[in-house]
Amino acid sequence: MDEYVKLIYKEKTYEFPVIIGSEGEKAIDISQLLKETGLTTVDPGFANTSSCISAITYIDDEKGILRYRGIPIEQLAEQSSFVETAYLLINGKLPTQNELTSFSVMLNDQSLVHEDMQFFFQKFPRSSPPMGILSSMVTALRSFYPELQTIEEEINRTVTRLLSKVRTLAAMSYKFSRGHKVVYPRQDLSYCANFLNMMFHSPVRSYKIDEDIVKSLNAFWVLHADHEQNCSTSTVRMVGSGRANLYASISAGIAALWSPLHGGANQAVIEMLSGLREQGGKVSQLIERAKDKNDPFRLMGFGHRVYKTYDPRAKIMKKIGDQILKKLSATDPLLDLAVELETVALNDDYFIDHNLYPNFDFYSGIVLRAIGIPTNMFTVMFAIGRLPGWIAQWKEGFDNPKWKLSRPRQVYIGPSETRYIPIADR
Ligand code: ACO
Repeated sequence: MDEYVKLIYKEKTYEFPVIIGSEGEKAIDISQLLKETGLTTVDPGFANTSSCISAITYIDDEKGILRYRGIPIEQLAEQSSFVETAYLLINGKLPTQNELTSFSVMLNDQSLVHEDMQFFFQKFPRSSPPMGILSSMVTALRSFYPELQTIEEEINRTVTRLLSKVRTLAAMSYKFSRGHKVVYPRQDLSYCANFLNMMFHSPVRSYKIDEDIVKSLNAFWVLHADHEQNCSTSTVRMVGSGRANLYASISAGIAALWSPLHGGANQAVIEMLSGLREQGGKVSQLIERAKDKNDPFRLMGFGHRVYKTYDPRAKIMKKIGDQILKKLSATDPLLDLAVELETVALNDDYFIDHNLYPNFDFYSGIVLRAIGIPTNMFTVMFAIGRLPGWIAQWKEGFDNPKWKLSRPRQVYIGPSETRYIPIADR
């Protein structure tokens, strides 16, 4: 039976249909609200707004469930590859062996970047933040790879080009930041192994590919691949809704991800834990600061706009961290501090009352450190992982003939009409 919500305003009753999602979640369709009532809605941070109808990713915020195209994240992290997961998100189904092979071949074919792009890197100051460089380089890709003849060819090429070249550009940015020679991609290596080789191989020391590290990186990227309408994905959709090309839309997404409350949190967690360690490791002091309303400090890696329980990705990430450290016969004092911090926070009334649990950034930095990724590259690693999701979300909009230009309204609270005063009379 169809459901409706009644709104009574100035003694008139209006009815708005309720849309029901495939997992039973419900939303009021207010697309006719302004036209029928003259009213808009106010929803800071869009916390109560479904900005689109999507078939890509499902989240149950109370049960801590995350699925890509219906498949639980736990199964994908354990059994799938990042390339296969990217195919799944972008094309809406798991590939056959042939489809996966030709997708991988396309990725391999696209892995080189135009030699002239190296000049950009050379002219950036060495200390430039890698996310800023990456965002600029992705915009620049459009100039090097102009639009193709048919829209289908354009989309397929651009999708694989971005997935492949962003990985190459990220590794190049690292090499340039260190003043080292760039390592070219190799066609004989898998997506993740290729990235690790471009990052860590050098003319004086060959990089030995370790399959366990490759597996950890693979799972790390699978876990990052999509998370429905978060800040950066909404940015990609918003920019794309103006029919901006995929490069421009992804570049905007990278800029949005480059923020401490969103993608920058993985780096912020490590900086917070390192600071804590340097100051003698007083976990209780950090917890007290996080609770103090007069202190702007927040416990990084804790809390989530959507999850009101343990982030399912954080559990897997912690397990990967434990495994990789065990495999490397290494310890990380920051992991011990993280575990202590988590235990104290999860037993503290403030964190319990506010439903604050570790999010996946809480442990992701530990995994990246173990792999050897420098802290200032953490958010870039997130961006590479999130690419399939951004692309899938952009494509879902693009494939919808009714994709509307994003253009929210506002409630104006500025001065009413005021007469202009010439400068001499002010
Ligand atoms: N530490 C201490 N208190 C917190 C934290 C935290 N990490 N997160 C939220 N709170 C408190 C707020 O102070 C507020 O308290 P109050 O109601 O008593 O005033 C309450 O919880 C709600 O906070 P909001 O900011 O309104 O919640 P919101 O849903 O907007 O925030 C966010 C979500 C931004 C992730 C927040 O939890 C945060 O800042 N966390 C730290 C940064 C972080 O880890 N970000 C990564 C998120 S995952 C991602 O984007 C990849």
